Amino acid sequence: MRDGKHIAIDRPCKMGLRNIIKKGESTLAKKSRVIKDFNERLHTLLDDMRETMLEAKGLGLAAPQVGVLRRAVLVVDTTEEEDRIIELINPEIIESEGLQEGPEGCLSVPDVWGIVKRPMNVKVRAQDRYGKEFEIEAEGLTARAFCHEIDHLNGTLFTDICERILTPEEVEELFFSEENDEENDQADTETEKV
Ligand code: NI
Repeated sequence: MRDGKHIAIDRPCKMGLRNIIKKGESTLAKKSRVIKDFNERLHTLLDDMRETMLEAKGLGLAAPQVGVLRRAVLVVDTTEEEDRIIELINPEIIESEGLQEGPEGCLSVPDVWGIVKRPMNVKVRAQDRYGKEFEIEAEGLTARAFCHEIDHLNGTLFTDICERILTPEEVEELFFSEENDEENDQADTETEKV
């Protein structure tokens, strides 16, 4: 997923960059398979996805976006003092609550932004790269990113479910108004704005 925020995570090297496939390629519309082997190959995929996401300044990335139909996603959690990347293998939303309606973009759908309704809070169950199960709760923008990335695993893009696509003027306002720079830090305010 994309938003206008700068992601402050160091990107150590460019060794593992993969090509991000774009809307129109059939892979993005397919359902990804469950991951059962938590092996070196998975770790390389996750490391490469991390590189690729940071290079593209994304807020999240799903394995099918790099052409791998496996249930693995990354989401940048921007709520803590320092941004951190959460790896989720076989993620499932097990609880959701509330509603937010706001702008969303995707690295696989360049230059297009749409208004998408998402739950305000979600609880997700997933496994880490070693297969250990965990649960994580998120709200606001991070909850939105979880939903967006998990949708990718089911072959759904935000353009399939959005209320409407933003006009170029609205996109400009979203990213280039001074007001918005302050508001970008708060998903709630940003959501209210639209
Ligand atoms: Ni996306």
